[in-house]
Amino acid sequence: MLEIEGVGKRYGTGELAVEALVDVSLTVADGEFAALVGPSGCGKTTLLNLVAGLDEHDSGRIMVDGETPSAEERLERFGYMPQEDMLFPWRTVLENVSLGLEVLGVDRGEARARAAEMFPQFGLGGFEHRRPHELSGGMRQRASFLRTYLLGRPFLLLDEPFGALDAITRGQLQSWLAETWNRIGGSALLVTHDPHEAVALSDRVYVMSPRPGRIMRVLEVDLPRPRTARAAETEAAHQLIDYLRHETEVEEVIA
Ligand SMILES: Nc1ncnc2c1ncn2[C@@H]1O[C@H](COP(=O)(O)OP(=O)(O)O)[C@@H](O)[C@H]1O
Ligand SMILES: [Mg+2]
Repeated sequence: MLEIEGVGKRYGTGELAVEALVDVSLTVADGEFAALVGPSGCGKTTLLNLVAGLDEHDSGRIMVDGETPSAEERLERFGYMPQEDMLFPWRTVLENVSLGLEVLGVDRGEARARAAEMFPQFGLGGFEHRRPHELSGGMRQRASFLRTYLLGRPFLLLDEPFGALDAITRGQLQSWLAETWNRIGGSALLVTHDPHEAVALSDRVYVMSPRPGRIMRVLEVDLPRPRTARAAETEAAHQLIDYLRHETEVEEVIA
C-alpha cells in the first residue's frame, strides 16, 4: 500500500526556485490501479520520480506498507516505466527487454530466457532479434512495459505510457493493458492525459491542479473487474469520462 502524505517538492533555490508540488496526498491500496491526470507541467513526473526514489521530496511522507522507506529503498520496491521508452537503438529488442534484470544482477543467459518467454504474451513474438527502430510505436511501448514488468515488482509506476501514440494505437494498447492487468494483477499508479484511458484502466482517478501541483479531485471508478476493452463504453463509464474531461478542460483554461 502506497500512502503519500502532504508531499512538497521545489526545484532550485532563491528567485529561480520552481514550486513543483504542494501538499500532495494520495493513497493506492494493494491491488488497486490508480490514475493521475493533470495539465502539462503540473508535477506528475516529479511525483512519480519521488515515489520511485529517483529524487528526494522536501516535505511530507511517502509510506509503503506503513513504513517510510528511504529513496534508495524505494528504488527497489517500485517498477517504473518512464515517459520516454529508453530503448537502446544498438541493442536488439530482447537485449533491451532483459537489460533491467541484468542490471539487477541476474545472469545474462537467464535474464534473456525469462524475457524471451514473455514475448508472445506481450505481442512481441518473432521480434526478439530486431532493433527497436524496426518496431511500431505500440510495440516499443509494450517492450518497455515488459522490461519494467520483468523486474517482478508488485507496484508499477507508469508515466504516460501511451501519450506519444496515435489515437487508434493508444486505444488498442489501453485494451491490451486492461486485459494484461487482469492476468498479472498488482498495484499501479498511471499518469495520463487521457480521461478515457484513466477511466478504462483505473479504480480511482486523482485530478491535479496546474503548477504547483495539488490534488484537486478524487474520482472513484466503480466499473466491474475484470476489465475488458468494452469497460469504458458503458453509460456509467461515459458519465465519468465526461466529468473528467470537463474537470481537466477547466484546469487547462486556468493554466
Ligand atoms: N529537474 C528539474 N529542475 C527544475 N525544474 C524542473 C525539473 N523537473 C521538472 N521541473 C519543473 O517542475 C514542473 C513540473 O514538471 P513535471 O513533473 O515534469 O510535470 P508533468 O510531468 O506534469 O508535465 C515544471 O514546471 C518543470 O519545468
Ligand atoms: Mg511528465
